[in-house]
Amino acid sequence: MKNYNTIAIIGTQWGDEGKGKVVHYLSRNADYIVRYQGGNNAGHTVVFDNKEYILHLIPSGILEHKKCVIANGVVVDPEALYNEIQFLKSKGFNVTPENLFISDRAHVILPYHKYLDKVREETQKIGTTQKGIGPCYADKYSRTGIRISDYLEEDTFMCLLKKNIDEKYPLIKNFVSISRESLIKQIIKNYKIYSKFLKPFVVNTTNLLINAIEKGKVVIFESAQGTMLDVDFGSYPYVTSSNPTVGGISIGSGIPSKYIKKVIGIAKAYTTRVGEGPFPTEIKSKLQEVLRKQGNEYGATTGRPRRCGWFDSVIVRYAIKINGVDELVLTKLDCLKGIHPLKICIAYKYKGRLYYDFPSSRKIQFLSKPVYISTAGFKEDISKIKDYQELPKNVKKYVELIERYCGIKIKMFSLGRERDETILR
Ligand code: IMO
Ligand code: MG
Repeated sequence: MKNYNTIAIIGTQWGDEGKGKVVHYLSRNADYIVRYQGGNNAGHTVVFDNKEYILHLIPSGILEHKKCVIANGVVVDPEALYNEIQFLKSKGFNVTPENLFISDRAHVILPYHKYLDKVREETQKIGTTQKGIGPCYADKYSRTGIRISDYLEEDTFMCLLKKNIDEKYPLIKNFVSISRESLIKQIIKNYKIYSKFLKPFVVNTTNLLINAIEKGKVVIFESAQGTMLDVDFGSYPYVTSSNPTVGGISIGSGIPSKYIKKVIGIAKAYTTRVGEGPFPTEIKSKLQEVLRKQGNEYGATTGRPRRCGWFDSVIVRYAIKINGVDELVLTKLDCLKGIHPLKICIAYKYKGRLYYDFPSSRKIQFLSKPVYISTAGFKEDISKIKDYQELPKNVKKYVELIERYCGIKIKMFSLGRERDETILR
């Protein structure tokens, strides 16, 4: 078999594991960085040259002048993408059809998807980002979606738009006070600007990627969200509407799955989640706020405070298994400073039975109690340490427990948002 230079970067928890920083770190040696699922629900914070950038759709490799791909599995809000490109340009980054490639098969998010996102939250509260992600993917699978290639053909777009408004307006009007005419006007107001602007970026990204991989180029697949938000494998229905897991790469970019060489899992040294849904290791005491402050755990997309909890080896073990993770990166270990003792969940307990695998039952997900082991905390500032051996004894003990219960060696530690705040082991 050929030696492909591809790496998948996968979130092993409920998103916000620090994927953006790791992708940015690795992108120095990459040729292409690819988003294959999700949309602008993602929020990837990257610090570059002492400045903070929050990216939603465009891979963070753009800051390194690498070729970035938004593949077919992504849902693209033309307005959000337009604004993100303008934002990057205003900061001096070159975004041109030479370094950004958008799939002609990606589906388009339109304002009615955002309204439907609000409507659905009324009947089933998930705590979505309200970016229209779920309704756009629902349209894709109901075969009523509008792809970028449809969007760029004005007659095709107008015809599909009318059908979609006919179908969706009756539902929207029960919850949102907007007239049918205003809704249409809102959609077509900037249509010409966006379609003209996007056109030069649009290509068959599958061909592009297959050619690049076969030529031995280094290609990084950057997931958005995390394994526990995967629509098939996560805490359904409190998930996003795509497959952030490694299986999503092949479908979401069109490359054969045998082209994926290495899978790197990203785990935060504790657990967070945003929005509703079960969270067995959520901390219920004042300590939650301490951890939130120390880790600056506020959503990069919505600004919502993230729910914080202990490291959960049940979910990380599960993510390692279903993604075939080869190497684990642990992030934000430094944020646990001063918290004592530290706890790691090793199993869930429900009605006297222990669960070592993430259960499918919503009831068990919500009602089970975590079984913890405790270990001593640390008081030192470890953010500037560059060598694993120099980490305080208690930190190493905590790391070794995570390794033991996750069954994997941790190869890299991210101890801050700057690229050099990293330990390679
Ligand atoms: P990154 O890429 C954390 C969560 C939302 C909500 C659920 C469904 O930064 O890790 P959606 O808008 O996708 O339909 O919302 O998924 N969610 C995320 N949580 N990080 C993310 O992305 C997320 N993207 C969506 O909070 O609970
Ligand atoms: Mg994020």
